[in-house]
Amino acid sequence: MSVLIVDGREIEFEPPATIIEACNKAGVYLPHLCWRPDFSPHGSCRVCTVRANGREVAACITAAEDGMRVENTADDIVEKRKTLLSMLFVEGNHVCPACEKSGNCQLQAVAYYHGVTAPTLTYFYPPRPLDASHPDVVIDLNRCILCELCVRASRQSDGKNVFSIGGRGIDAHLVVNSETGRLGDSELDIDDRAAHICPVGAILPRRGAFQTPIGRRKYDIDPIDVAGDASEGET
Ligand code: SF4
Ligand code: FES
Repeated sequence: MSVLIVDGREIEFEPPATIIEACNKAGVYLPHLCWRPDFSPHGSCRVCTVRANGREVAACITAAEDGMRVENTADDIVEKRKTLLSMLFVEGNHVCPACEKSGNCQLQAVAYYHGVTAPTLTYFYPPRPLDASHPDVVIDLNRCILCELCVRASRQSDGKNVFSIGGRGIDAHLVVNSETGRLGDSELDIDDRAAHICPVGAILPRRGAFQTPIGRRKYDIDPIDVAGDASEGET
């Protein structure tokens, strides 16, 4: 058994483990968006940034070491996360007040956890398409943060390959792997994990909108460090 010191608190972990795996197992909340315990890490959102032995790293792709000192709640680390979150909110149009994921959205919950309640940066909002061709699922790419959770869920959990990422840099975008590029012509099924895993409400199952009243939605009841991640079956 090895020991990690997180904000002065010792937690035990069994190597090999990443910093976020060690924290997650010990019940220490470390903010994240593109990481889920049951998928290979992606390391793209950087919301899990911590300082480990004096160096800023993404906790989901950095191995925990015996005796390592991790700063998760230092002021400058939290400020960095807030900036990252603010950038996500203006990079795509999240239309939170009208979104059916409001109150059950991991991005919104992490933002509230850090006290980010309104956009502070200049809106970017490139026009992106909405695909409503599937009978059971809609995709609004305006909200996609390119976390690749749907890509990994489709491949690693559903045994399919419905999604991938096309383009590079500012042109990177989610691609539906079907002959027409439309979701309705893909292999996606409503029971697929990929249909339910999106942390931002870009992928939304139909006929479930606004069923939970305001005040009783997942993160209305508990903040994300208590409630845990939005997960399968909750969209
Ligand atoms: Fe991530 Fe959702 Fe975009 Fe898929 S659609 S890459 S799950 S944000
Ligand atoms: Fe670590 Fe996204 S959760 S980079």
